[in-house]
Amino acid sequence: MRKPIIIGNWKMNKTRNEALKFIYAIKDQVVSNDQVESVICAPFPYLRCLVKRQGSSLRIGAQNMHFEKSGAYTGEVSADMLSLIGVSYVILGHSERREMFNETDESVNKKVHEALTHQLTPIVCVGESLEQRENHTTNQVIEQQTVAALSGLTVDQVKKVVIAYEPIWAIGTGRTATAEQANETIGYIREVVERIYGKEAANAIRIQYGGSVNPANIKELMSQEHIDGALVGGASLDPNSFLSLVNYAD
Ligand code: 13P
Repeated sequence: MRKPIIIGNWKMNKTRNEALKFIYAIKDQVVSNDQVESVICAPFPYLRCLVKRQGSSLRIGAQNMHFEKSGAYTGEVSADMLSLIGVSYVILGHSERREMFNETDESVNKKVHEALTHQLTPIVCVGESLEQRENHTTNQVIEQQTVAALSGLTVDQVKKVVIAYEPIWAIGTGRTATAEQANETIGYIREVVERIYGKEAANAIRIQYGGSVNPANIKELMSQEHIDGALVGGASLDPNSFLSLVNYAD
């Protein structure tokens, strides 16, 4: 069985004091890691201070990294730097980075390889625009992004990756994909993985939904066959809301 994984993506939000207040408020109330993996992906400057206070069940992730190991890449952060300070997850290829910071399928793939080399769990985001959904090219877009991101990985590596299906039109808009829509596209991603890496990899890989997830809709989304978790922006910023999300099964 696949372990559910709920991730908060804080994006570029919170002061250091707010980040600390958040972690003290939640760390002893997060559902046990045996049942659900709970992760906060925070801005770089807070990662170390959050890792130090993560407690037994919460884990901390970054929101991006570079694919090179070191060198003249002003402003960039390597996988090794993240893993050495105790970060265990990294979001890669978020649509905001694809749209605003020139992230490509090729760079995402290089980052996935580098993250896995350093025992970081990559959370690979894929998703179509509203125009693509309306043109009925969703599956084509998602397939291309998924195939490119996983290219060159072994079956064992594919099993460690988390994919987040985030339709761009549902991000920050309050317009969630219906649970059926999300399940259907995520089921298609699983089919694509099976075609290339086989049944074992397809059954093991965890695929999340993201886009206007909140405490009111999480339960229905999580009840779908193919949805293994959620990647949550806005509703992960408030400690009580984040706790309701990770404790969705209660
Ligand atoms: P919202 O939950 O605010 O729609 O953001 C989704 C997202 O982009 C998470 O990565």
